[in-house]
Amino acid sequence: MLDSFHHRIAILPESGQFTRQANSLSDKLNIPVLTADETVEINKYPVVLCIGEAGLGIRQTGNNTQKPVHVDFLRGSLAYRNRHKANSRELIVKAVGIKPGQELNVLDATAGLGRDAFILAAFGCRVHMLERSPVVFLLLQDGIRRSADDQETASIIARMRVSQVEAMSYFKQIEGQPELVPDVIYLDPMFPERLKSAKVKKEMQVLQSLLADIPGDQDILKASIGIAKKRVVVKRPRLAGYLAERSPSFSIKGKSSRFDVYQTFNKNEPRTCRE
Ligand SMILES: C[S@@+](CC[C@H](N)C(=O)[O-])C[C@H]1O[C@@H](n2cnc3c(N)ncnc32)[C@H](O)[C@@H]1O
Repeated sequence: MLDSFHHRIAILPESGQFTRQANSLSDKLNIPVLTADETVEINKYPVVLCIGEAGLGIRQTGNNTQKPVHVDFLRGSLAYRNRHKANSRELIVKAVGIKPGQELNVLDATAGLGRDAFILAAFGCRVHMLERSPVVFLLLQDGIRRSADDQETASIIARMRVSQVEAMSYFKQIEGQPELVPDVIYLDPMFPERLKSAKVKKEMQVLQSLLADIPGDQDILKASIGIAKKRVVVKRPRLAGYLAERSPSFSIKGKSSRFDVYQTFNKNEPRTCRE
């Protein structure tokens, strides 16, 4: 059965130079390629997957034509946050419970554009990202590929990896394999209340257009709490209700987001070891 994204997206090569790559992606994803003389068709699709000099990107079509959104760990706000991390007070770092000299294994079960995962890796975590959307997964792979040779970023990228898999099926895959159990599970699922907010950024708007029909999985929190060794962290809009209406151990509030922390002390962790 086709996922709903097949009706939402087409591939748009920047020039003839990228046609071969576009055709190979078209075979892989089973979505059409728009050639230069077919670009009139573009508005049939809310989102296009652009292939060009800057790599893979997605952008919304329609009147608000915008530059493609790429997974970009080398420029913009992520690069800034990485460069200034020594003096920063990133709330996500506190929420995940990162301590100097300790390498936490974090499973980012809803990877998206990998922004949170990058910050966690920049602060020394090993991060395994899970992403169920095949298109978003390709964007992540492309972003990692473009950053892997950058001197400043390579050591961070080396701590990140990505799998294309739905989180609940991954949880089943690791059953009975204690070496794969993460210290922390990080969740930033996309739920309608957040996406409808006027403040939603361009990156999230284009993700919303692409992923609109995919339902959120309310069971993911319960399953995560049963697995993570130390804690589960859920990113929420600042004023949103708790995910699955489950109260956290504590919350850390920022200007627009809130991190709800569920301490787990599962299995291999001694119960007396409070953090
Ligand atoms: C709000 S975005 C995450 C943004 C991310 N924290 C960042 O910093 O870029 C949510 C992403 O999670 C993915 N997702 C949602 N539920 C998922 C699940 N059950 N398994 C895997 N991926 C999921 C969606 O496809 C979407 O790309």
